[in-house]
Amino acid sequence: MSKLQTVKGFADLFAPLSGLYTLMEDTARRVFGAYGYRELRTPIMERTELFQRGIGAETDIVQKEMYTFPDRKGRSLTLRPEATAGVMRAYIENNLHAREQVSRFFTCGPMFRYERPQKGRMRQFHQLNCECLGAEEPQVDAEVVLMLLLFLEEIGLDGLSAEINTLGCRECRPTYRKALTDFLRRIDPATLCEDCRRRVEINPMRLLDCKVPSCREQTDGAPQIRDHVCAGCSAHFDTVLAILDKERVDYILNPRLVRGLDYYSRTTFEIVSASIGAQGSVAGGGRYDGLVKDLGGPDVPGIGFACGMERLALMLGDKESLLPRPDFYFAVLDEAASDTALHAAQTLRKARLAGEMSFGAGSLKSRLRQASRSNAEYCLILGGAELEAQKVVVKHMDSGEQAEIPLTTLADWAEIRFEDKMERGRKGGCR
Ligand code: HAM
Repeated sequence: MSKLQTVKGFADLFAPLSGLYTLMEDTARRVFGAYGYRELRTPIMERTELFQRGIGAETDIVQKEMYTFPDRKGRSLTLRPEATAGVMRAYIENNLHAREQVSRFFTCGPMFRYERPQKGRMRQFHQLNCECLGAEEPQVDAEVVLMLLLFLEEIGLDGLSAEINTLGCRECRPTYRKALTDFLRRIDPATLCEDCRRRVEINPMRLLDCKVPSCREQTDGAPQIRDHVCAGCSAHFDTVLAILDKERVDYILNPRLVRGLDYYSRTTFEIVSASIGAQGSVAGGGRYDGLVKDLGGPDVPGIGFACGMERLALMLGDKESLLPRPDFYFAVLDEAASDTALHAAQTLRKARLAGEMSFGAGSLKSRLRQASRSNAEYCLILGGAELEAQKVVVKHMDSGEQAEIPLTTLADWAEIRFEDKMERGRKGGCR
């Protein structure tokens, strides 16, 4: 019989990698929570129409990458390729604009895109996503960028660059689009890739972010949007940049940053890493002022972003030191000591220490090897002799120092360890 396998582009996340995902989510909740973002969990499946109308019928995502299928009654459903459209649907459906002027949402979870899998690109991937609805002030744009950068710093990432651009609004973009199309029509189509040839008329701005070298060369002298935006968009963008300057954010103005989803207006941004290969965009987002209205809601402005967790994990690499370290490993040497050990280990956990216990009998050498593999801070050893004396040997794994303590005082020992851990600000836990 053939071996069962995961679907191509979908992955199992084992520890310690899964621990990194938990760390990212916890840090995101803490950092984004400090700005007022509260968690919203939306379904992973929506009606297909939502994404067609939200992301744009001509985008690659909608044209080629969605997992779309009919349900048993023939209605077309789609596994969410991103979170924004679903958050908008939930906001509109629940009339949230009537309850609060500004709504801030944090969402995380799996997204699905039928792309060619490669390093940093999966068909099921995970995003940390924030959306802020109801405010159009440039301060919001700056706050969102600063918040994203703070989050990336808090999870321990550096060496990233922030790229930023403005895409103008619905009033001024058509003028730019026309200037760009006029320029693109003068290019010999034979020098463009197939996608770009198709996009000249239907989505000309996407030619600017094509990665094919010959296309890039051809669009080098293309008109730049910043020279075509209206006074309102220009002032808005200048203020965003001025705040970022004041906050000493090192950003790059990238006039080619147009993003692959149709809903953007005004500020767009991406955080890019040079260290994880071709799929270097670890986060991306921007303003989308007409989206809520387009989806049948009130005319409410919005801005947001999403971080790709697979790419963040690639950057974090094997930073196991970021993950909590178990406080103990309970080594049972003799089967006769098992029940006493189980009770003792339970005492430790009630005192909020974390660690695993061995089962059955085993040699001291093999138990210490397991303790060291688990990266526990202490190994507690209970064999026949210790059982007899109603004591347990406590070995500090880093220094090698060890002591014997009576089982009756184990709860006190655990309490001191817990206080010590809190003082050092160390989180204990099994990975
Ligand atoms: P996006 O640029 O399509 O934007 O995706 C955001 C991030 O998700 C990317 O920067 C990347 O890190 C990650 N990502 C995208 N596709 C994949 C994939 N196939 N495999 C692994 N990671 C991937 C959005 O999704 C927008 N909804 C962001 C947003 C929120 N804009 C406003 N609000």
